[in-house]
Amino acid sequence: MTDDSLSSHLHELDLSPDPAFTAQANGTAEMYDEAAADHEGFWARQARERVTWAKDFDTTLDWSEAPFAKWFVGGELNVAYNCVDRHVEAGNGDRVAIHFEGEQGDTRTITYADLQREVSKAANALASLGVSTGDRVAVYMPMIPETVFTMLACARLGAPHSVIFGGFSAEALHTRIADAEAKVVVTTDGQWRRGKPAPLKAAVDAAIHHGDDASPVEKVLVVKRTDTEVEWDDERDVWWHDLVEGQPDTHEAAPVDSEHPLFILYTSGTTGKPKGIFHTTGGYLTQAAYTNAVVHDLHPETDVYWCTADVGWVTGHSYIVYGPLANGATQVLYEGTPDSPHQGRWWEIVEKYKVSILYTAPTAIRTFMKWGTDIPAKYDMSSIRVLGSVGEPINPEAWLWYRKHVGGDRAPIVDTWWQTETGAIMISPLPGVTTLEPGSAQRPIPGISAEILDDDGNPFTEAEKVGYLVLTKPWPSMLRGIWGDPERYKETYWSRFGPKYYFAGDGAKYDEKGNIWLLGRVDDVMNVSGHRLSTAEIESALVSHPSVAEAAVVGAADETTGQAVCAFVILRGGATDHGEETVQELRNHVAKEIGPIAKPRQVMIVQELPKTRSGKIMRRLLKDVAENREVGDVTTLADSSVMNLIKQGMSSGSD
Ligand code: WTA
Repeated sequence: MTDDSLSSHLHELDLSPDPAFTAQANGTAEMYDEAAADHEGFWARQARERVTWAKDFDTTLDWSEAPFAKWFVGGELNVAYNCVDRHVEAGNGDRVAIHFEGEQGDTRTITYADLQREVSKAANALASLGVSTGDRVAVYMPMIPETVFTMLACARLGAPHSVIFGGFSAEALHTRIADAEAKVVVTTDGQWRRGKPAPLKAAVDAAIHHGDDASPVEKVLVVKRTDTEVEWDDERDVWWHDLVEGQPDTHEAAPVDSEHPLFILYTSGTTGKPKGIFHTTGGYLTQAAYTNAVVHDLHPETDVYWCTADVGWVTGHSYIVYGPLANGATQVLYEGTPDSPHQGRWWEIVEKYKVSILYTAPTAIRTFMKWGTDIPAKYDMSSIRVLGSVGEPINPEAWLWYRKHVGGDRAPIVDTWWQTETGAIMISPLPGVTTLEPGSAQRPIPGISAEILDDDGNPFTEAEKVGYLVLTKPWPSMLRGIWGDPERYKETYWSRFGPKYYFAGDGAKYDEKGNIWLLGRVDDVMNVSGHRLSTAEIESALVSHPSVAEAAVVGAADETTGQAVCAFVILRGGATDHGEETVQELRNHVAKEIGPIAKPRQVMIVQELPKTRSGKIMRRLLKDVAENREVGDVTTLADSSVMNLIKQGMSSGSD
């Protein structure tokens, strides 16, 4: 579709809420006023209505030690009790919690009563391995029910989990295990990927036996998933089926303090060292449950909900595990990739389970657009009533495609902006309330306040002017810090625009209607297929290769993945450039150091990098090269001939 026909098409669409939808929607227009009139009162009400407290809280927000927030102070609760037991106690034990769909076509139906037994057994098993309140548990697992059981078992014991995405390498796993000092790792022998088993535990073994460092890991609990052969340490390793299956299927969920840490999740920042973002209990659960109810418009009695994210990312934490389960949802959990065994697999799942709410990422939608409309057209997707998007800006063309070919030209789309740090959705339309604007996340949800600031830190409201997105009031599911590094927390989020504003790191603008448009990161963080990667982390992986002297990485625009990793590399004096072979070796080296998701699309061997007189690499110019543009202004370069050298002498390679 050309831009012209796109805008005329947009013009013809009526995207105001359907009154029938509005009549049943969980979100209401009044909520905006209510929250604006009494911010803390609004959140206190959400906390009491959506969460069951073992002990009620006495103070809604303590911001006296800003930017370190305490929410629902004095309250006590157990997250696993809220996500599991209370539904059984309310008589909903027979309701399906999880429709599991394995990649190989194997399935499992798990009711809330089943979930209670499974989580209890897992909690008893972890306790028998010595896990108690406050201990950290690393989880390195594929999308299988045991992963959910494990996370909830940790929550039940008050032991914060650190889930590490299964696509990360042993090296990345090692850093994360060491930083959190995880005592136990839960993993699987292998994971299914496009019909083939790939080893997983092997990376855990390598991470534990990393260099000379003594590992904090005492026990490794292993689920047998693929029958992949594994090395075994009799002292340390335990099979899930040997330990968990024999455990008692009841377990008392002890309440913890509202501010007790629930999980750590590592994410990329602007330096090479990933940040352990940590979240606590009461505030996080409140906002996860609230947003899942009002933004996804979940009705647990009738909806079948499906979030396609991996549990290794924050979306999987908040919108597979905690939000939907706290609300008593029935959801689909899918282990595999969208094209296995065929490109209609997702739509087949939608048809099979009558999925009514689908939450996915723009990169997936753009991939489906490439595969063609005839694929979704083969399936009955009339059950869909709400669609969601997360992870990166969704371009209007993908938005329209999603609405038409998945949402039957009827389902509202919620474009939800948030971050690992925010814990839950922050900016999004409310279905049934908001008149939608394709491509825009629109406005902060009730209870959340945002502004756009100029370079000097002044808020503005002019349309089409580009600035920095900030959040202006503390919110319940906000990060409580960076694990073990409170200074970095203050410096990263609360210093750019002074202590009043949380700096999100995203560029943004308003349109004429006052909608917020998110414009991507303004720092050295890339967004590849909705996954956050730091330029610095990939650069340090590249320079750890013996042949590399210097490296600069940029995110270049990519039609499908949003951005793609492009690396410019200077080889060391003694190293020879073997062309394609060197390029492939460096790409594989990054995959080994960080994981396949970080593998550069392109590596360009160059003689020089463009630097300012103060020695800062001018990534903007490298981006021009990577995106095949005329290079921009070179006047601030220390040596202005460098760009010519780069363009002439480049040997590049990619898949
Ligand atoms: C980007 C994922 C535009 C943004 C939940 C943010 C988005 C980063 C959107 C956080 C959206 C996420 N529109 N950009 N709807 N959602 N982003 O921590 O740059 O993996 O800062 O959390 O993704 O990525 P993270």
